[in-house]
Amino acid sequence: MNLKLVFASLLGLVLLSACERPPMQSTQREPRGAGLQQVDNPRLLAANKAALPAVPDLPPPGSNDGPKAKDIYQNVKVLGDLSVGEFTRHMLAITAWVSPEQGCTYCHVANLADDSLYTKVVARRMIEMNRSLNVDWSKHVGATGVTCYTCHRGNPVPANIWFAPVTPKNNYARPGMGDDAGQNKAEPSIALASLPYDPFTPYLSGSEPIRVNTTTALPTGNLASIKQTEHTYSLMNHFSKSLGVNCTYCHNTQSFLSWNDKRVTAYHGIRMARDVNNAYIEPLTKAFPANRLGPTGDVAKANCSTCHQGVNKPLGGLAMAKDWPGLMTTAMQTPAAAAAPAAAAPAAVAAPAVVAAAPATAPQALKEVVYFPVNSALLKGDEVQKIDKLLAALNAQPDSAATISGYHSASGKLSANQELAKQRAFKIRDALVKAGVAANRITLDKPQQTEANIKGEDPFARRVEVTVK
Ligand code: HEC
Ligand code: HEC
Ligand code: HEC
Ligand code: HEC
Repeated sequence: MNLKLVFASLLGLVLLSACERPPMQSTQREPRGAGLQQVDNPRLLAANKAALPAVPDLPPPGSNDGPKAKDIYQNVKVLGDLSVGEFTRHMLAITAWVSPEQGCTYCHVANLADDSLYTKVVARRMIEMNRSLNVDWSKHVGATGVTCYTCHRGNPVPANIWFAPVTPKNNYARPGMGDDAGQNKAEPSIALASLPYDPFTPYLSGSEPIRVNTTTALPTGNLASIKQTEHTYSLMNHFSKSLGVNCTYCHNTQSFLSWNDKRVTAYHGIRMARDVNNAYIEPLTKAFPANRLGPTGDVAKANCSTCHQGVNKPLGGLAMAKDWPGLMTTAMQTPAAAAAPAAAAPAAVAAPAVVAAAPATAPQALKEVVYFPVNSALLKGDEVQKIDKLLAALNAQPDSAATISGYHSASGKLSANQELAKQRAFKIRDALVKAGVAANRITLDKPQQTEANIKGEDPFARRVEVTVK
């Protein structure tokens, strides 16, 4: 027999074995004629479903009547309005979701009121973050909602997290080849594509635009570079891989510019991931021990895989959060989130229209958290740029208004703390007014007290939150 033929058919087999076996299942996702079909492998879908982890068995919700946790315990700052019974149920759940093997002592020393373990400090802020996810980001998390289990799945450190990579000092493949942006380095959620390794720093921590298509003939209009385009595609690979879907789930591949409902949900997800990373996790950096930090000293952050873990709705869309009032409401929240009325917050995050319109032009609530140095009302370093972002949002939406809330820690003298919080809020108001924003578009809230829980030095207590909507 012709050896070449044998080789060719063997090669054919090898190549085919990389394809998925028919039959496939296709679902029409847009009006007929739009050519948008979702093609799925039913066996993979079934396997994914079967692979969903079992959720820990926990007691059902009880009554919130009777003495409240804040009246009974000494150091309860977030879950204080839960009844003692409900509070205990929440502690049990947190243990089952985050540290089932380590138990209560993962966060507690013998005196349960003591805040000396960093894990407790982090957990308290995580509870606030979790509430914000369910309340402020309902446009993304819907009725499914989020609990600690969505990300942690029984692990103190969630399985899918990311750190900023060290930029290689000499990343040149060959002389004259330039920076390869870490291509071909193994980042599992980018599926080993020959694409930049880290799309997370620019897009899920920073807010670089994720738009590379142009709507006008070149050389006018959009001037996205090849590098930006590659980073965008790298992020898109991460989306697909994280959700276990292909590009057509969110795009009509005839026109990557157009919008469908899934892309709109994803759009909010991107903003939500930025909020998780910038407003909650990053400010905790100093609370973490060095062995938890990444190679550049940054804290582990979240991306789409942190929650999704390979499926389009985390945990197959299991609506767990509704049973945990402590994670669902801002009514009993620390003043931090109570400042934004629960009902109004999600409504203000208007969905971009499900048409060709770019959501960048749709009204979006913007929240910036501005941090201040100890004992000071001065704006330093990167914090100054947040004023520019606020100005851009106010200028882009002439009928929007800014609400400014200053926070101070619970330690030290109350009157002095309140005064400082007020001066910090004034500082931001004055900067906006000086840049031309009418004073009647700015509301100042009363200074709010936050927990002082990092051994007297609480970096995220020294903050002012500004919401533009
Ligand atoms: C993942 C971290 C974590 C685990 C595990 C955990 N807790 Fe807590 N616990 C906290 C946090 C955070 C607070 C403070 C909550 C607040 O400020 O609203 C707290 C507060 C408490 C308090 C109030 C103490 C006081 O006087 O202020 C009690 C009681 C408590 N936990 C019991 C338990 C028990 C019992 C377990 C094990 C079943 C447990 N916790 C497991 C994080 C944890
Ligand atoms: C959006 C995903 C997400 C959710 C929801 C979430 N966490 Fe986390 N959590 C993280 C990330 C990311 C880290 C940082 C990982 C690390 O510790 O290095 C983290 C870290 C922690 C740590 C520190 C663990 C350690 O050993 O370093 C604790 C404790 C914790 N979370 C508790 C909670 C609790 C309690 C809840 C629910 C109220 C919760 N988390 C909800 C993403 C999440
Ligand atoms: C989970 C939903 C989702 C998936 C899956 C997805 N995308 Fe995207 N894509 C988006 C969103 C949302 C944006 C816009 C982000 C923004 O504006 O902030 C976007 C933007 C883009 C853009 C830029 C479009 C423009 O207006 O310039 C391109 C190109 C693109 N995606 C290609 C892809 C490719 C190729 C894949 C498959 C590898 C893919 N996407 C998978 C949601 C998705
Ligand atoms: C904090 C957890 C969390 C993170 C992080 C997260 N998501 Fe989601 N996502 C959810 C939940 C919960 C749902 C289910 C919403 C529902 O039931 O309506 C969801 C739903 C979606 C859907 C709709 C799926 C469907 O079939 O209707 C898309 C698309 C999506 N997410 C994209 C993303 C992208 C892209 C990212 C990263 C930029 C991301 N998500 C990050 C929790 C998360």
